[in-house]
Amino acid sequence: MALYSDKVMDHFRNPRNVGVIEDADGVGEVGNAKCGDIMKMYLKIDNDIITDVKFETFGCGSAIASSSMATELIKGKPVSEAMALTNKAVAEALDGLPDYKMHCSVLAEEAIRNALEDYERKKGAEGSPQVYTHVECECEGKE
Ligand code: FES
Repeated sequence: MALYSDKVMDHFRNPRNVGVIEDADGVGEVGNAKCGDIMKMYLKIDNDIITDVKFETFGCGSAIASSSMATELIKGKPVSEAMALTNKAVAEALDGLPDYKMHCSVLAEEAIRNALEDYERKKGAEGSPQVYTHVECECEGKE
């Protein structure tokens, strides 16, 4: 069996929703301290619905495929549904990731959660600092 599913390869080669939303309502960034991968998510939210989402990922193929799939899973969905998105759901939607690559999908879950928290904070208090999280990578150089 191939190491990566066709869906992973497709989302890695043709990632959906790559880019920046200049006037985003929420921005979340997450970094993996060990492998150095960084993911940034931008959300446009209208009436509690995610109307647009874009990402920038500096990282491995699984991280890119996970970000791409995660944006597809939350686009057009209510904030509450996006908040409940797990890395497991992202990996399942990609028809699986190798065990040692599962942490790459955690970046997507965390980046979206940080962006949603940024959105909630901006709603409550203007100018609060943006959240930056470090996820512990277990790949230990196994690219
Ligand atoms: Fe992909 Fe660690 S995040 S190799």
